Amino acid sequence: MSSAGKIEEKDLRTSNERLKKYIRDKVNHLLSVMGTKPLGREELDDSTLIELDPIGIIARSFAQVLEHQKETNRRLTVAKDQLQAVFDTAGVCISIIDEDMRIVNCNEKQKELLVSPDANAIGRHCYEIYCGKDSPSLDCPAVETLATGRPVFIREVKKKNKHFQIVTSPLKDSDGNVTGVIEVSMDVTEKKKAEELMHQAEKLTAIGLLAGGIAHELNNPLGNILGYATLVLKDRESGLAPEHREKLEIIVEQAKKGSDIIRGLLDFSRQSVPSFSDVAIDGIIGKTMRTLQNRFSSQRIKTDVALPGALIVRADPRQIELVVLNLLLNSIQAFEAVSRRDKTIRVGASRDGDFVRVSIADNGPGIPGEVLPGIFDPFFTTKPIGKGAGLGLSICSGIIKEHKGSIHVSSEAGRGTEFVFLLPASGAPHPVETR
Ligand SMILES: Nc1ncnc2c1ncn2[C@@H]1O[C@H](COP(=O)(O)OP(=O)(O)O)[C@@H](O)[C@H]1O
Ligand SMILES: [Mg+2]
Repeated sequence: MSSAGKIEEKDLRTSNERLKKYIRDKVNHLLSVMGTKPLGREELDDSTLIELDPIGIIARSFAQVLEHQKETNRRLTVAKDQLQAVFDTAGVCISIIDEDMRIVNCNEKQKELLVSPDANAIGRHCYEIYCGKDSPSLDCPAVETLATGRPVFIREVKKKNKHFQIVTSPLKDSDGNVTGVIEVSMDVTEKKKAEELMHQAEKLTAIGLLAGGIAHELNNPLGNILGYATLVLKDRESGLAPEHREKLEIIVEQAKKGSDIIRGLLDFSRQSVPSFSDVAIDGIIGKTMRTLQNRFSSQRIKTDVALPGALIVRADPRQIELVVLNLLLNSIQAFEAVSRRDKTIRVGASRDGDFVRVSIADNGPGIPGEVLPGIFDPFFTTKPIGKGAGLGLSICSGIIKEHKGSIHVSSEAGRGTEFVFLLPASGAPHPVETR
């Protein structure tokens, strides 16, 4: 072989080596992109490698990469859908908030409870959408998590009249900087209401026991005072001087007032057992209104009474008198604060299915919205000391409940007040438990 031929062969070998290295490097690069081990020399020796079609290898590898990519995408989509389903069907509210406190995403429960149907929450400030405020509140757990980068658990927060337990956790980037917050909240409104009812029932039981105990203790001595004073008054031979008779009459009158208060306490503590009979509601209302006639006229209150006869209820008449009396007294007292001329109390009764409906309405000052939820609570009063003990409405609601009826109020500040109570009509099928 000529020296020129040797040089050519050497050049060819060098160029082959370069080509093989190029192909091997490219194939291995592709394999590494696909996450596969690089080719070993034993898997594809250099002579086979050189016979292979390099473009073909790359094309096939590329097809494999694409296939792999498609499969990865499919799996990602499935995982994303599953995650979205968990996100949306979770019984708790979940919200993702960025560092400017704007909502990045929120689930269906969060929308249902805290986002008004016409609002688009995404991109808006969470305090505006979820809390109805212009700025975050000082005790907001998301603010704290954004500032400290630590999770916060809050036992209870009130948002839009609902109660929530909230947990916030930070979202961090790869450098550990806080980029947002995940807020998970659970609606505990119903649980809280149930707890409050329990608490209320316990309180009522305790107050009832105390009031009942005191009332029983006072009842006997007061009964004795009343009995003996009446005896002396009736004794024609006692030769009482007129001024002594007058004083005795005051004693009797005051003792009777004391007895009424005690009866009220016993009613409140429900220790006087109701004795049910069939009674006409117009008779009960008429009798109670007559006892208040002086109060109506001295305060220039007009009464407008619409009572059809023949409305018979199954009730303890004395207890229903007490209910009517309390409601009328409240209206009379409410008028003390107004100077209008056309003070009117409207009293009406009508049949309402298996019930008899009684309405007592005044055009007095009304009850402000913030006061309304508490008025049936025992000892709740807006009146000055000595004017109201705050027991009237709680006694009324206790009595009506015991009669398997219901009592409601509707009122607006400045527009007057209407109380409505329903009592089972006589002869109606079994009284409904609640209404
Ligand atoms: N007709 C009414 N008009 C305005 N406020 C009323 C009326 N009835 C009840 N209220 C409000 O409800 C509160 C509770 O009433 P109640 O239980 O009878 O207790 P009290 O009369 O001793 O205050 C009252 O203090 C008053 O604020
Ligand atoms: Mg009252």
